[in-house]
Amino acid sequence: MYCLETNGSENMKTPKKWHPGSWRSHPIQQQPHYKDEKRLEEVHATLKSYPPLVFAGEVDSLKQQISDCALGKKFILQGGDCAERFLDCNEEKITAKLKVLLQMSVVLCYGARKPIVRIGRIAGQYGKPRSSNTEIVDGKQIPVYRGDNVNSFKANEIDRQPDPERLLKGYHMSSMTLNYVRALTKGGFADLHYPENWDLSMMGSLKQKEAYEGIVRNIQDAISFVESLGREDRSLNTVEFYTSHEGLLLGFEESMTRYVAEHGGYYNLGAHMLWIGDRTRQLDGAHVEYFRGVRNPVGIKLGPSSKTNEICNLIESLNPENESGKIILITRFGHELVGSRLKEYIQAVRAKGLNVVWSADPMHGNGDKTSAGIKTRNFSHILSEVEQTFKIHDELGSYLGGVHFELTGENVTECLGGSEGITETDLSLNYSTYCDPRLNYSQSLEMAFLISSLLNKSRAND
Ligand code: PEP
Ligand code: CO
Repeated sequence: MYCLETNGSENMKTPKKWHPGSWRSHPIQQQPHYKDEKRLEEVHATLKSYPPLVFAGEVDSLKQQISDCALGKKFILQGGDCAERFLDCNEEKITAKLKVLLQMSVVLCYGARKPIVRIGRIAGQYGKPRSSNTEIVDGKQIPVYRGDNVNSFKANEIDRQPDPERLLKGYHMSSMTLNYVRALTKGGFADLHYPENWDLSMMGSLKQKEAYEGIVRNIQDAISFVESLGREDRSLNTVEFYTSHEGLLLGFEESMTRYVAEHGGYYNLGAHMLWIGDRTRQLDGAHVEYFRGVRNPVGIKLGPSSKTNEICNLIESLNPENESGKIILITRFGHELVGSRLKEYIQAVRAKGLNVVWSADPMHGNGDKTSAGIKTRNFSHILSEVEQTFKIHDELGSYLGGVHFELTGENVTECLGGSEGITETDLSLNYSTYCDPRLNYSQSLEMAFLISSLLNKSRAND
């Protein structure tokens, strides 16, 4: 475990020897190789001079809310694209993403009878870890796509070269996205008094549509009842919505890191929450070094390759003060392994008295390929992992504090199944992800209904 020391001039507790660039002397995974390193550092300097995207007070407030999820008082819904695309930074796509997340949160809130903490994989999810550095396209070996912040999706040698200018574009795209998200969430789009904002014109199944409309009607009845008593609740007009992305490209993350004197610490002000991927969570690695020094809540992706003692050491290193709300452990074992693996982590973390919030990512352990080689995921496998995760936490007297999905507000055809019954042959109809397959609008809402009833059941058992 790292020791803490007080840094006199900044009057704060900063882990020993940490500074926003201290990750640079640690081994690092999953970084692009830029040809023009000098230009890369100029870009980082420019980014450092730009205003932050979020405010430290918002980050602290999210941390407080996450801490409420540890004991089941609130529940996290985190979701969005696997890889956000620059070309989707427009009114239609942002609205659709926000809408599906807000609608899911209403459904979850209704079943759970508890507030939902909404966190988008949005406004910065532009960097992707990959399992190999290159791929073969038309018989030629070319660099893999690593997210719009790094290179182009276009599959040729030239467009796949990492380009530092993309980081600047990524900053601008994030800020435009966030600006519009703020306008929507604070400007009335999410006002529960106006059901027209919540329409379900794209909903596939009539059954779901009716169930959803029933929930919205019930909520509206409840609101009008409370208001008839003379109480107006302004919180019904606006919603809180937080941003997140994988903290992968550390030069970029360092540039967004600022010392906030009034809060006495360093914050990554490029997003409210960030997570460390399953491929970059080595204890002595650069990503862990970077994240141990920032105040933001940090997610850790936890897959079957992790050892329980490694995870406990990692948590201690990232959260030496054992602060509640700081660490979200996002498990992603897959439906076949979760039943045999999750328990040991819950027990180990509990035995050490470590404060964490558990979340389930049922997407990344359930990747499949069709016979034609198309990447997909099956709705029933995703659901099975969620169900098993709830059950294991329940049996151990632990809480599942949230879920993490790759999803979109559009009618894509990337994941199999769901009540629309998407088949392998349907996948080619509208397969538009740049990386992993996402639940579409209808599958996402269906998933929310199913989780809502699981939350409802566990509420009844409490
Ligand atoms: C992701 O969330 O996009 C991702 C790559 O996940 P993981 O690190 O769990 O594989
Ligand atoms: Co993914």
